[in-house]
Amino acid sequence: MPSTALTAIGTLVTNDPALGDGPLGLRRDAAVVFEDETVVWVGDSAAAPAADTGVDLGGRAVLPGFVESHAHLVFAGDRAEEFAARMAGRPYAAGGIRTTIAATRAASDDALAANLARLFDESVRAGSTTVECKSGYGQTVADELRSVRIAGRFTGEVTLLAAHVPPPEYAGRADDYVAMVIAEMIPRCAPHARWIDVFCEQGAFDRDQAHAVLSAGIEHGLVPRVHGNQLHQGPGVRLAVELGAASVDHVAHVSPADIDALAGSDTVATLLPGADFCTRNSYPPARALIDAGVTVALGADCNPGTSYTTSLPFCIALAVRELHMTPDEAVWAATAGGAKALRRTDIGRLTPGARADAIALGAPSHLHLAYRPGVPLIDRVWRAGAVVHAGLPR
Ligand code: NIG
Ligand code: FE
Repeated sequence: MPSTALTAIGTLVTNDPALGDGPLGLRRDAAVVFEDETVVWVGDSAAAPAADTGVDLGGRAVLPGFVESHAHLVFAGDRAEEFAARMAGRPYAAGGIRTTIAATRAASDDALAANLARLFDESVRAGSTTVECKSGYGQTVADELRSVRIAGRFTGEVTLLAAHVPPPEYAGRADDYVAMVIAEMIPRCAPHARWIDVFCEQGAFDRDQAHAVLSAGIEHGLVPRVHGNQLHQGPGVRLAVELGAASVDHVAHVSPADIDALAGSDTVATLLPGADFCTRNSYPPARALIDAGVTVALGADCNPGTSYTTSLPFCIALAVRELHMTPDEAVWAATAGGAKALRRTDIGRLTPGARADAIALGAPSHLHLAYRPGVPLIDRVWRAGAVVHAGLPR
């Protein structure tokens, strides 16, 4: 089994408090050893065991690969004009999704897969070593089926976003659309997905419709996650908690009762500040959520409508500047938090037994991710022990 030793790490984020300081389990002058696809040793650089390959990090920071738990990457076209109009004052509404539905339905499988490959590659170069991927721009049985199949070529974390917005042929008939989703779409698509998602929002699906779709998904073995409370206060957060969803995502407009419900649950609040940035939406009350004890993840929410970015470093900077998270909290949320949102214990940490997914920064500590916004600091990325991105030598 090939082994790799990363030595002379300036700051190592392990996300294991037993291995170092604070919730990030920080160690200085550290080393990590991978064997094949797995982390087998973490300790002081001076004590690192020999390995087939040695990588001297020269004081750079190393952290677990980012876990992107919210991405919409199966689509065609873009909505740059809609973005420009929004920046000129037009508000964002759920209906913009139909523009991308039309483009996606018209695209070939090859074109969709090529776009997905491009965005996966972009995500890896931004440090994401796990990427969840949603369907949702087909909204017919055939188009959702090909969307989840294509997503499955790239990731095991496939989400059937069966009810994103009622498509044009169901205009004014959302209940009929939901009935079709339950009778036909979920049974056909569930074998190709792990998660079921729904957009519970004004102009998309109401509580009862969302409940019906998620319950049907659960009956077919899928685990729920919810787009909730993005644009308005509404029932999304409480529905997610009630159904034991893995996460409720966006959480920008919440009441104290929503925060209490989340705090007493296992549902992760996944914050997507890139979407709030690109829609001039309010940012989620991250401080109130964290201080209440809610588990928070950060996602980039890459999609052509509200957040056309794959960059979790950008979202970490936003989380610190705009959501008042500490840099440590933001880094945790983009790594361990994302892993919790995906109910994974093998990723989001650098501890013996974890998958060897790691990032080396062109900087001495993880603080620089927020401190140097917009600077491409992702120097090198390993996924399952293999180098999947190598930046310029410095
Ligand atoms: O996460 N909110 C729903 N879905 C996406 C936006 C989709 C779109 O506008 O195309 C989101 O923001
Ligand atoms: Fe989304």
